[in-house]
Amino acid sequence: MNCPSLFAPLTVASRVLPNRVCMAPMTREMTPGGLPTAAMADYYARRAAGGTGLIITEGVAINLAGSFGSAVPRLYGADALHAWAPLVARVHAHSSAIIAQLWHVGAFNPALIAMQDSLPDVVERLSPSGLAAPDKPLGRAMTEDDIAATIADFACAAAAAQTAGFDGIEIHGAHGYLIDQFLWPETNRRSDRYGGDPARRLTFAVELIRAIREATSADFIIAMRLSHWKQLGYHARLAASPEELAAIVEPLARAGVDLFHCSTRRFWEREFDGDPRNLAAWVKILSGKPVITVGSVTLGTDFKVPTGKIRAEVALEHLALLEAGLARGDWDLVAIGRALIANPDWAELIRAGCAQDLKKFEKAMLETLA
Ligand SMILES: Cc1cc2nc3c(=O)[nH]c(=O)nc-3n(C[C@H](O)[C@H](O)[C@H](O)COP(=O)(O)O)c2cc1C
Repeated sequence: MNCPSLFAPLTVASRVLPNRVCMAPMTREMTPGGLPTAAMADYYARRAAGGTGLIITEGVAINLAGSFGSAVPRLYGADALHAWAPLVARVHAHSSAIIAQLWHVGAFNPALIAMQDSLPDVVERLSPSGLAAPDKPLGRAMTEDDIAATIADFACAAAAAQTAGFDGIEIHGAHGYLIDQFLWPETNRRSDRYGGDPARRLTFAVELIRAIREATSADFIIAMRLSHWKQLGYHARLAASPEELAAIVEPLARAGVDLFHCSTRRFWEREFDGDPRNLAAWVKILSGKPVITVGSVTLGTDFKVPTGKIRAEVALEHLALLEAGLARGDWDLVAIGRALIANPDWAELIRAGCAQDLKKFEKAMLETLA
């Protein structure tokens, strides 16, 4: 099975993507000091050379308070402004597009999910209500000035990404980080215009998207990643019905999102009882925007935090499901995570009908940027 629909071009915000294969954003914590290295440029260029049409970078910090840790890359600071252009050019040389995932962790301590690296204690974590989870106070609640400054930092990082040559950015609105903390009532207990009913909890995201749109040109892709699941809980839900989901994605689309990335751990699972469509398919219908699906594509074991669950056999039966969903129009793009770490040439192998040559994913593969 070589999935012909995967290899049709797609135009998003007037950028023609050569095919439907995306690299999922994956934090690798291999940028001491936060600047992209030559090894990192090689790593992304290898995936572009292997036929990936759209690279979504690992999460990139927009300011110090929002950084996951000292070894993740950043798009703030004068030195960062020029550091990304060579990496972007390496990807473009293979006719692939590349967008930077902009990330603010909010109330989040890597130690909570047993990850090692942490920022110095002097960094005060900011979030809607000073809560990492309903029963986990952390850092402090943002003032309206903090909110305005954070939105400005997102817009600056997006403008810097455009200057560096990126084709767009992806706003990390998923997995329980800052933007998701505003969306989720359990971590947003505010009584000002940023908290309360679902529409008010969206205010931060809507203002952020508008600010990024104003800071960049109309052909610069604004993608947004959303999920139900959080780092601290796989069973959290943002919307219990299509109506509730529409109330989230319609305003985001109106604010300027060009592309939604619907993060699930198993792409084939239905979103609502009584209907076979997954989260991506629903978001596409409800927002009218193109969507990316993701989650265990060609892998027999789903993603778990910490990243150590950890060996995943190849599951070729997913290819027929992927192709059928693309052909039906349920989703427009497919993001590949761990399978693309294991197989930089994932797209080429599928295109050539050589899926049986895919390698399984193993934990040791996370130790290098191969
Ligand atoms: C090592 C690793 C790092 C990740 N880092 C990020 C990240 O920075 N941003 C993000 O949105 N998701 C991140 N994820 C989640 C992936 O983007 C993806 O959604 C998840 O791995 C499921 O896809 P897969 O089953 O194809 O691996 C990470 C996943 C892994 C394995």
